[in-house]
Amino acid sequence: MTQLETYITENESRFLEDLKGWLRIPSISTLPQHAGDIRRAAEYAAEQLRSIGFEQVQLIKTEGHPLVYGEWLKSPGKPTVLVYGHYDVQPVDPLELWESPPFDPLIRGDNLYCRGAADDKGQTMLVFKALESLMTVNGALPVNVRVLIEGEEEAGGESIEHYVKTYPERLKCDAAFICDSGMPSKQIPALVNGLRGIIYTEIEVRGARRDLHSGSYGGVAPNPLHALALIIAGLKDAQGHIHIPGLYDKVREATKTEKAFWRDDPLHMDEALLEEMGVSEFSGENEYPPLERIGARPTLEVHGIVGGFVGEGAKTVIPATGKAKISLRLPSDLKSDEVFMLFERRVKELAPAGVEVTAHKVHGGEAVIVPIDTPPVQAAASALKEMFGREPVFIRGGGSIPIAALFYEILNVPVVMMGFGLPDDNLHAPNEKYSLSQFFKGIRTVTRFFQKMGE
Ligand code: BES
Ligand code: MN
Ligand code: MN
Repeated sequence: MTQLETYITENESRFLEDLKGWLRIPSISTLPQHAGDIRRAAEYAAEQLRSIGFEQVQLIKTEGHPLVYGEWLKSPGKPTVLVYGHYDVQPVDPLELWESPPFDPLIRGDNLYCRGAADDKGQTMLVFKALESLMTVNGALPVNVRVLIEGEEEAGGESIEHYVKTYPERLKCDAAFICDSGMPSKQIPALVNGLRGIIYTEIEVRGARRDLHSGSYGGVAPNPLHALALIIAGLKDAQGHIHIPGLYDKVREATKTEKAFWRDDPLHMDEALLEEMGVSEFSGENEYPPLERIGARPTLEVHGIVGGFVGEGAKTVIPATGKAKISLRLPSDLKSDEVFMLFERRVKELAPAGVEVTAHKVHGGEAVIVPIDTPPVQAAASALKEMFGREPVFIRGGGSIPIAALFYEILNVPVVMMGFGLPDDNLHAPNEKYSLSQFFKGIRTVTRFFQKMGE
């Protein structure tokens, strides 16, 4: 056994304890009452970096939640890798569906259950532990490393974007490394070569100046909830086609290889998707393979509708207002600002007479497609192959990590997106979990990646 392997094996339980300590901090970025927890989670990450031996470790103040920065630049002549992760997590609702408290990390079988276990504290911590192992065993890292961790990823915050655009020279590097994605199964390692962008919107509909008796006014009053239903139905039909003029104009054709992979589905990922969802057939544009819809097609989803009477029993009221939260995922080449303008215009056009509609953009982020024939991506592929015994697949993730596009465009470096999450990790949902074997395998894989980057 190598010294490195011995060190990792002997320290596995402490690595896990360090992760649990981080997970216990409810760092929900979108809820203002958790601002204190956000700060504690940032401090915790900074403390980890200090204990590894990183320098210049600091919380960087922003207009929103702090960034955590640290560097170790003592490998002259070697490349510099910029490591990214996020310490914020999603809200926990619906709370009653959790089998154990969301911020009480508990192990059941091979899984550690806790909000943030997979997204993204578990995956960020495994990179820290890979760095710690290399540093302790060798007294140095095989490459130069900068670490930048944010606390607004799940809230669509723009602080990191602002920082990267303002101080690109402080983040000078040869590659970015993001551990915030997954693989199709424990046996099939993956690298992400594309992510979609997003616009997240809220539309508000106003009717009468106050709630009205539905008998006295029904038939003559505008109904904002019904108007919302018409607007939503007009935005996307039952076949999954989005009716926003201009939306599809810029969608870029995927490569032949990608199209064949989606169509032939050699890893039977379609089946796994149905299984995971617990449904018998796919919704959406059936003229495109499911994997293409997720990875490379624009999609529109409604996340929540607020308004009217939702208590027990009956109340005959015509509500004065209604609100819906709607987002669009955007494949590369569709720019979030341009799409928001098209969306807003269409929403107004769909509004029936008598209501006033406003649409506002909550946040937006751009898509990215990274080339895979670069040395850092190839180093990642080779590390995965060594640890998992087979070549990784390249996948286009349907989710969004807005900073990936910025690293690629502003810092102008290859972006490696290597993650160890699994399809049943319950990201953003009750009972989020992370596989312990993935966590420990992840540590070993990432050490191999850094070593290969230094060769
Ligand atoms: N880690 C996810 C994105 C992801 C999920 C990438 C699965 C690849 C595979 C990230 O934390 C996330 O959830 N992002 C948000 C971004 C948004 C709030 C701007 C998303 O995709 O909804
Ligand atoms: Mn994430
Ligand atoms: Mn997430």
